[in-house]
Order: sequence, then C-alpha cells, then structure tokens
Amino acid sequence: MAFLADTLQRIKPSATIGVTDKARALKLAGRDVIGLGAGEPDFDTPDNIKEAAINAIRDGRSSKYTNVDGIAELKAAVVAKFKRENGLDYKPSQISVGTGGKQVLYNALVATLNHGDEVIIPAPYWVSYPDMVMLAGGEPVAVVATAESGFKIKPEQLERAITPKTKWLILNSPSNPTGSAYTRSELKGLTDVLLRHPHVWVMSDDMYEHLVYDEFVFTTPAQVEPRLYERTLTVNGVSKAYCMTGWRIGFAGGAEPLIKAMAAIQSQSTSNPAAVSQWAAVEALNGPKDFIPKHNRIFKERRDLCVSMLNQAKGIQCPKPEGAFYVYPSCAGTIGKLAPSGNKIGTDEDFVTALLDAEGVAVVQGTPFGLGPNFRISYATATPVLQEACERIQRFCAGLR
Ligand SMILES: Cc1ncc(COP(=O)(O)O)c(C=O)c1O
Repeated sequence: MAFLADTLQRIKPSATIGVTDKARALKLAGRDVIGLGAGEPDFDTPDNIKEAAINAIRDGRSSKYTNVDGIAELKAAVVAKFKRENGLDYKPSQISVGTGGKQVLYNALVATLNHGDEVIIPAPYWVSYPDMVMLAGGEPVAVVATAESGFKIKPEQLERAITPKTKWLILNSPSNPTGSAYTRSELKGLTDVLLRHPHVWVMSDDMYEHLVYDEFVFTTPAQVEPRLYERTLTVNGVSKAYCMTGWRIGFAGGAEPLIKAMAAIQSQSTSNPAAVSQWAAVEALNGPKDFIPKHNRIFKERRDLCVSMLNQAKGIQCPKPEGAFYVYPSCAGTIGKLAPSGNKIGTDEDFVTALLDAEGVAVVQGTPFGLGPNFRISYATATPVLQEACERIQRFCAGLR
C-alpha cells in the first residue's frame, strides 16, 4: 500500500518553480543564465512599507498570534481598498486575509468543493488552479482561449462548459501567463451568462489589477454586474503591485458564510498570516502609491521591447498583452526543427530545454498553462538583461535547422 495519499497522484509540482530551480542550479554551476521564469517584480518592497514592518517589530506588534483571518486594521484597509479602487462595498466580516493570494484561493476551494464538483478554468491558466481544484476534490474544466481571441474566452464557450455540477468559474484578469485582460464589455458578456446560471459562483483573481498599460481600464465582475455580488469572491493581494511576494499577504472579499468557512479552514491549518507582514500590508494599502505608475512605465517599456524583439525571432509569434508582466508567444514555427545539439524540437518543452542548453535563457513551456506550443516570459527583470535575453532567443531561433 502506498504511504502517500492518492490525491498526490493527481497533482504535479509547479512548472514555474521547476524552471526557476533549474536555472538557479545552472547558475550555481557557473553558467551564464538569464532567468525569465519567476513571476515576481524585480523591484524591492518600497521603503515606507519596510519601515512600517520594522516599527511593528519594535513596538511589539508582531510577536503574538493575531486574529486568524487578519487584524482589524488590515481588514479595514482592505475594505477601504475595495471601495476606493473597485467601487465595492464589503464589511470587515466579509474580508479574509491569508498567507498570499494562493492560500486565500485554496481556502475558498476547500471550503466549497465536494467530490466531483466542477470548476471552469479558462486556459491558458495560472498553473496552480487545476491542481488546487484537484487537491480540494474537485474537477477542473479547462476552456481554451487561443491567441486569435486575445486569450480570452467568449460567452458561448462559458455557456457550453456549464453543467449542473459547475460550482465556480475562476477568472484571472490580467492573466498569468498571457497578460490578457478583459474589458468591461467582455466581462459583461461573461457575467450575463452567469446570471442565467444561479448555481455558478465566480472567483475573480485580480492579483495583477494595478499592472495594466496603454490606458486599459481594469474592472472586476462584482463591479460590472452588481447582481453577482453575492456569489463573487473578489481575490487580490499585495504581492505583485506592491513588490511584496516574500511577505505573503493576500485577501478576498465575499459572502459572509463563505468567508467564515475559509477562516475555519485557516484556523485548523496555518492560523494567522505573519503579524509583521500584516502590518506591512496595512501600510501598502493605506500609504502612498506613486511607485506603481513609475513601475508601470518601466513594465510597459519592457513589454514593448519583448513583443517587438520576439516577433523578429524566426518561428515565434508574440501577441501584445494588456497587463501583468508576462508575454506568451507561440513557438509553433520552431516545431519540427533541429536544435544546435542535434535534438529535434517536437514540443514547447523541447523548445525551452534546447533554449536553456544553447543560450542559457530560462523560460517556461506553455503546456502546463493549458495551451501550447507556447512559452511564457516574465519581463519583470532589468531592461538590458531582457534585451540580451531577446537577442539570445533571436540567435537561437535563427540557428534552428
Ligand atoms: C494569477 C495569480 N494568482 C495568485 C497568485 C498568488 O499570489 P501570492 O504570491 O499572493 O500567493 C499568483 C502568483 O504568482 C498569480 O500569478
């Protein structure tokens, strides 16, 4: 009898973490490697946020357990954030704070899924969604959106995917891994479908809300369709926009009974997120935000650089996304060719392996995100490094036979 649980056979370790580890190992071995795998800003946490954390430690506000799903001050800051930035009214009792957006999403799935319940996940998707759903006993149902539709699903596709067993639709806009973001009218098309199916809830992962370019206006389902407010969980966090991935604070607003159930799960697993991180997040949400447009100007420049340089690489096609810090080019034009090593490129995984071997550029293959042959580049890295990486990709593609 196997000692490990059966559920483990259904899940796989995160592919994005895998490629980052591989690049790190090559670097340690002395290779000149450029890692474009990690999904986090290269900017450091702003000083005012660090200071708030240091003060919390000095004042003794960080040394004890806190309320399981967030201190009152942070819940108040989250309530104010949802009102100010999204026009959403939540009470503190409708707010859940966890150890990163990841824990909040996971708690919500564990709190609601029974064996066999279905969760609709538009593909390409963040690698963790299907595995989280399976860990929680549910069935992920992928609905594929291709580059031709801007990597966004259409209302008809959503309609077709809904069954009596559907519990959630997970929407992630702007998206990891494509950077695509739904406009208000595109979201309205989807929320109109959901209005016809009252048993389906929507989990909106708005983690990249602030990272949008070219005057794109971000919106979220509960804002677009107030009639869905009661069955929407609006998830967000400080990781990406506030450069705080290491602090591990995420949050959500939603229906009180769901929020209570999520707190019960957290109380029996991890308890409160680190107290010092909660105080840092209070400052992030309430404090100055002038660094966000500054970062965005740099991210937009890098996006444009990547899109332009990748579209000049032989066999690569790179759409221009609205947000986040990812591009998701197709490498279909390289399939069937021979790498410098003599190995044939049959899949996107072969492509990224050969690229890492030949040119020391680490990107993530598309297949684990639910659509290939593609690869994901995170452009949250210094511009000259990014330029060098794109030159290497161009050289690699030109050398394929
Ligand atoms: C789409 C998406 N949702 C959620 C998360 C989790 O964020 P956190 O670091 O706050 O757990 C990530 C992180 O990569 C993400 O890309």
